[in-house]
Amino acid sequence: MTPPSNTPDPGDSDKLRMPDDEPRRAGTATSGGTSGAGMPSPVSGGSKAGSKAARTTQDTDTILARLVVEQGFATMEEVQECIRKQRDAAEPGGSLAQLLVNSDFITKRQLDRLRAQVEAERSGQHIPGYTILGKLGAGAMATVFKARQMSLDRLVAIKILPRKYSSDPQFIERFNAEGRSAAQLNHPNIVQAYDVGKAGEFHYFVMEYVEGSSVYEEIVRKKRYTEKEAVETIIQVAEALDHAHTKGLIHRDVKPKNIMISKEGVVKLADMGLARAITDREAAEAEAGKAFGTPYYISPEQVRGEVDVGPQADIYALGCTLYHMVTGKVPFEGKDPSEVMRKHLKTPPVAPDAINAKLTSGVCEVIEKMMAKRRADRYQNCADMLSDLHSVLKGETPAIAHKPIAGAAQEAISEVLMEVESRPAEIAIDKTRAPSPFSHVAVQFVVIMLIISVILNFVLLVL
Ligand SMILES: Nc1ncnc2c1ncn2[C@@H]1O[C@H](COP(=O)(O)OP(=O)(O)O)[C@@H](O)[C@H]1O
Ligand SMILES: [Mg+2]
Repeated sequence: MTPPSNTPDPGDSDKLRMPDDEPRRAGTATSGGTSGAGMPSPVSGGSKAGSKAARTTQDTDTILARLVVEQGFATMEEVQECIRKQRDAAEPGGSLAQLLVNSDFITKRQLDRLRAQVEAERSGQHIPGYTILGKLGAGAMATVFKARQMSLDRLVAIKILPRKYSSDPQFIERFNAEGRSAAQLNHPNIVQAYDVGKAGEFHYFVMEYVEGSSVYEEIVRKKRYTEKEAVETIIQVAEALDHAHTKGLIHRDVKPKNIMISKEGVVKLADMGLARAITDREAAEAEAGKAFGTPYYISPEQVRGEVDVGPQADIYALGCTLYHMVTGKVPFEGKDPSEVMRKHLKTPPVAPDAINAKLTSGVCEVIEKMMAKRRADRYQNCADMLSDLHSVLKGETPAIAHKPIAGAAQEAISEVLMEVESRPAEIAIDKTRAPSPFSHVAVQFVVIMLIISVILNFVLLVL
């Protein structure tokens, strides 16, 4: 599995060229309903007029025909010819898409992209009050479109979830509940949630449109952040989380792709409240299946499938994000998601300053505290974390994260002792690998050696 720093998101390269990407004035034709001046309406293969299926095919073909012309793949006459062929075909119901491919007007690849766009327009058509302007991107779970909210004449982003969720009442309940609570939040560093609902077969979530990039894109572009720039960015996310946590909302999916940066340089945390609707297990499986990235930022408690995940889960994920920003590497890599998750549970990350020697010990201490395996060892709230982050920015010692040497040694010992005592942790998603019996013996040996060394040191000190 390749770490995301080296892997531009496949979804990003898939952006469609939209001739109407520029904001349109309210009152102009809606995207789905325009068949283009002079564009003949494609037929739907002899279906009875008025039947739902016939209308659907006709809608789809009409939008497809328009897009092919608008995007310069074929002239109006050429498309009309295909439509005539479709109409005159001996076997009714021939697909316009197929005819366009057979006539070499579009390639199969272009057809796939056009299909996504057609689907967007069709679904957009069914979201009353919004005009879809183009596709912004796709994540593991959903597709996000740029749209215009007609009533307020403003640009918005609409996240449309796949149909498969429409039949799951529990999901719908969670989705709506979280959407409602997210809409209660109002903070300059949170992508504002506007609306949540269902139109036709699609569940959608309307939010503030952020024109700019994401931390993910910035890491891909510049390999890594400077410490100052990273800490300044993380502070803004921490402010956003502090606000959400105070209102009782946990994000659960803090990651570089969900941290957007507006053109004005304001950091905005996206997808607040959305992750809750989908269980961590579903999310991890969806991500794994799509190779869109794996759980690089997931907290140990989420890996274990714990239900009462608290603010510390977001603090952990933010720690992983900060680690990635300042080192250019995700904290844990692995050949598959299970391996990455296992490392979140048990493996200490390589010290950030071992990868980037320019980092201060202060920022390393803060990252270590944010990424502590046990939630009790992390910052207990964002206010504490913010206080340390501000200290780092000022070049001061982060008072809460900082450990005197003796304290650090003591903690190392108790951590190892705890590891020995605790039963081997299980990964919620992959329970196939049993822990090695050697690990216990080895750990016990290390503990004994550590204890002896501490006692000797103590004796030497006293003498
Ligand atoms: N509010 C928004 N404004 C502008 N673009 C957005 C917004 N939300 C999401 N996007 C774009 O859509 C893409 C897909 O988003 P999403 O489905 O949340 O997946 P992910 O967060 O994993 O990238 C994002 O990577 C981003 O480029
Ligand atoms: Mg997102």
